[in-house]
Amino acid sequence: MFVTVEGIDGAGKSTLVSALEDRYPDAEFTCEPTDSWLGDCVRRSISSEDSDPLTDLFLFTADHSDHVGRIVRPAVEADDLLFCDRYVDSRVAYQGATLDGRVNRPMEYVRRVHEPWSIEPDLTLLLDLPVEEALERLDSRMKYENESHLRRVRENYRALAEGEPGRFHVVDAGASPEDVVQACVEAVDAEL
Ligand code: TMP
Repeated sequence: MFVTVEGIDGAGKSTLVSALEDRYPDAEFTCEPTDSWLGDCVRRSISSEDSDPLTDLFLFTADHSDHVGRIVRPAVEADDLLFCDRYVDSRVAYQGATLDGRVNRPMEYVRRVHEPWSIEPDLTLLLDLPVEEALERLDSRMKYENESHLRRVRENYRALAEGEPGRFHVVDAGASPEDVVQACVEAVDAEL
């Protein structure tokens, strides 16, 4: 089974993923951007103040293509339990916001770029949190972490979840870390 973890910066993904590592010791864990040289290119681009949003999209997507080929497809074909911290929905939500005004219907555009060749998760855990609370939890603010941008990203995530209620499991990330983990474990176990 293939499970992705999504949410705006500061929603608590890292805490959740380390709890899932303890709870599912035989599962594989991966993330986007990856730790490959392509992931390094992505991190370099998004840490630059003046990078171009379309360039960011295609760097993230290049990293994703390599990730699907090396990690995701083999794990899915072997029917392993694979967790991925950020995946295609991050692109649809984040670049869907940065590309607004640059391309028509940006969320749909980003989705269509992936559709013919990517692999869809079985379950997506979306940690949902008001932006003010998320920003309080963040100590550094990168380009994608300013308030108005994160508001649009959160709305994009919520629209994605509404559009695919069968795949998304939305969790209130304002709850205690224990309750967040419990809600996610229940959702994963129900699918397994
Ligand atoms: P991280 O903090 O979860 O490692 O993600 C790094 C930043 O990159 C975060 O602000 C979200 C952003 N991001 C995108 O904008 N698009 C993407 O496709 C991914 C995977 C991350």
